[in-house]
Amino acid sequence: MTPTPPALPDRIRTARLELRAPEISDASAMYASYTQDAEVARYMVWRPHASEDATRDFVAACVAHWHTGSARPYVITLKTSGELVGMLEARTKGHIVNIGYVLAREHWGRGLMPEAVRALTAEALGLPEIFRVEATCDVDNLASARVLEKSGFLLEGRLARFTVHPNIDVEPRDCLIYAACRS
Ligand SMILES: CC(C)(COP(=O)(O)OP(=O)(O)OC[C@H]1O[C@@H](n2cnc3c(N)ncnc32)[C@H](O)[C@@H]1OP(=O)(O)O)[C@@H](O)C(=O)NCCC(=O)NCCS
Repeated sequence: MTPTPPALPDRIRTARLELRAPEISDASAMYASYTQDAEVARYMVWRPHASEDATRDFVAACVAHWHTGSARPYVITLKTSGELVGMLEARTKGHIVNIGYVLAREHWGRGLMPEAVRALTAEALGLPEIFRVEATCDVDNLASARVLEKSGFLLEGRLARFTVHPNIDVEPRDCLIYAACRS
């Protein structure tokens, strides 16, 4: 029997953000704000979505992951308006939580993602089963590396030929690996 994954909260609130479960009705706002944006997708493992239907399929998969417990793909919203601005996904394997994140371009440069990552990391490392939160990013994704540094993660190394980022190259590219661990 698969053990029940540790319980990250359903909602996480920060000074400016609320992180919550995805809903199918999020697809339209998500497509409008970032899934069709080639610049946002540049260092991601997916290609920009060609239609809102593609985003709806993606959100349906997120909803399924959330309900089976295989991942917690939090939708990030602004507390003041409820506007959907991005996503922060936590994937738990044993004592490790691996995270991935994306933010709509309109909201880049305001420190929103470090705020979300710090809050999620604190929740994860507060669980007795979790000792490590980790993330990887393309070696050229300097903004993402900076998010992790600003969130208190330490650079552990460079993983050669680790991930295919199809918007840059068909071949796997080198990635940086960062982690925040319980002391
Ligand atoms: C990466 C991302 C989440 C950053 O979120 P954000 O909320 O804008 O992050 P911040 O506001 O903290 O700004 C990013 C930091 O990187 C720096 N930065 C941005 N672009 C940079 C570049 N090309 N070179 C060097 N530094 C850069 C900014 O100056 C800032 O650092 P500072 O506060 O010390 O000045 C956002 O850019 C994004 O969604 N990008 C597309 C998706 C993506 O790449 N996701 C990560 C996949 S691993």
